[in-house]
Amino acid sequence: MKILVTGGLGYIGSHTVIELITEGYQVVIVDNLVNSQIEMLAKIEKLAKQKIPFYQVDCTDENNLEEVFLDHQFSGIIHFAGLKAVGESVSLPLNYYYNNVTSTITLAKLAFKYRIEKFIFSSSATVYGDQKSPLIETMPQGVTTNPYGETKAISERILSDAAKINENFNVALLRYFNPIGAHKSGLIGELPTGIPNNLMPYITQTAKGIRKQLYVFGDDYDTLDGTGVRDYIHVVDLAKGHVAALKYNLSGAEIFNLGTGKGTSVFEIITAFERVNKIKIPYVVTERRAGDIAISYADPTKAQKNLNWRAELTIDDMVKDAWRFEKNLK
Ligand code: NAD
Ligand code: UD1
Repeated sequence: MKILVTGGLGYIGSHTVIELITEGYQVVIVDNLVNSQIEMLAKIEKLAKQKIPFYQVDCTDENNLEEVFLDHQFSGIIHFAGLKAVGESVSLPLNYYYNNVTSTITLAKLAFKYRIEKFIFSSSATVYGDQKSPLIETMPQGVTTNPYGETKAISERILSDAAKINENFNVALLRYFNPIGAHKSGLIGELPTGIPNNLMPYITQTAKGIRKQLYVFGDDYDTLDGTGVRDYIHVVDLAKGHVAALKYNLSGAEIFNLGTGKGTSVFEIITAFERVNKIKIPYVVTERRAGDIAISYADPTKAQKNLNWRAELTIDDMVKDAWRFEKNLK
């Protein structure tokens, strides 16, 4: 079975390509390199022990994208391609709406035309807004606080409407919680450009001395220790969730949380990182970050039951693998 992976040179896409190949799928990657480097392809091929067809194409460019569909017959699409920086989406809303929403529509149109029955979409827990955890798929979409989150909410609705009118078009809307960690080879992982927005890359860069100290965004939340609580999931577990969704007999558009079901605070992450890697992380507590919520974690029961998938790796695995990757970077 041949799978089109858009955004396959990015953080989650690259890990998923490895898992797909391990499971015997053939993979074709499309990426426009807006947030990745071509060197990633050789690293994936090394880990996968095979050549992988790659097209440097923008998923909003229907004509060029169609060439890929003419070259290959796909049985499924996994659509990772998208812009993902929350802060940047506030300053560049038109870029975010155009890129993320147009690419979803363009791919869905081609999926209709070439009768591709499975479409797996990268959504985010951010579409729940500030509802009370555990977050469960039966909750309505919440209020999103930035254009990035809105592109995910809109894309979910577009794909659901498309699935309603075409019984051959089945969609998995995978709502990721907080992916961290890296492949255990240390070869691939998260490569943020500029100053990291997310917690784990900021911690690993602080450990390496690239950043002087970590800023903890608030210790006055109504949580165990006052810091924000999130459902961190190892990127390899997340990648395996995509393989499980491909194997599942989808019917229409179905939502699945991909999380562990366990919340961990910022202080707990720092402590785990220091204990496992034996490195001190200097930090200061500062103001809350605008748009942050206190607690977000999944109810992962539906994915566990229906997809026969569950996250297996621990916080200790995540902090260990994240640090191994950062250490190896030149
Ligand atoms: P990433 O930036 O590492 O990977 C995305 C890839 O898509 C990049 O290689 C980029 O070059 C490519 N891309 C972007 N726009 C494109 C376009 N128009 N055409 C072709 N390629 C394009 O991001 P990631 O962390 O791997 O995230 C993958 C997906 O999962 C994204 O859609 C993201 O919004 C979503 N997501 C990520 C997280 C997270 O914490 N990383 C959480 C929830 C959802
Ligand atoms: C952020 C995005 C969310 C996106 C997700 C994955 C915001 C408001 N939300 O989620 O839309 O889906 O990334 O890409 O940006 N923290 C610090 N110091 C830091 C960084 C983070 O204390 O330098 C804290 C945060 O306050 C939060 C936790 O660490 O409590 C996790 O933050 P982060 O990794 O940015 O993820 P989210 O905020 O959950």
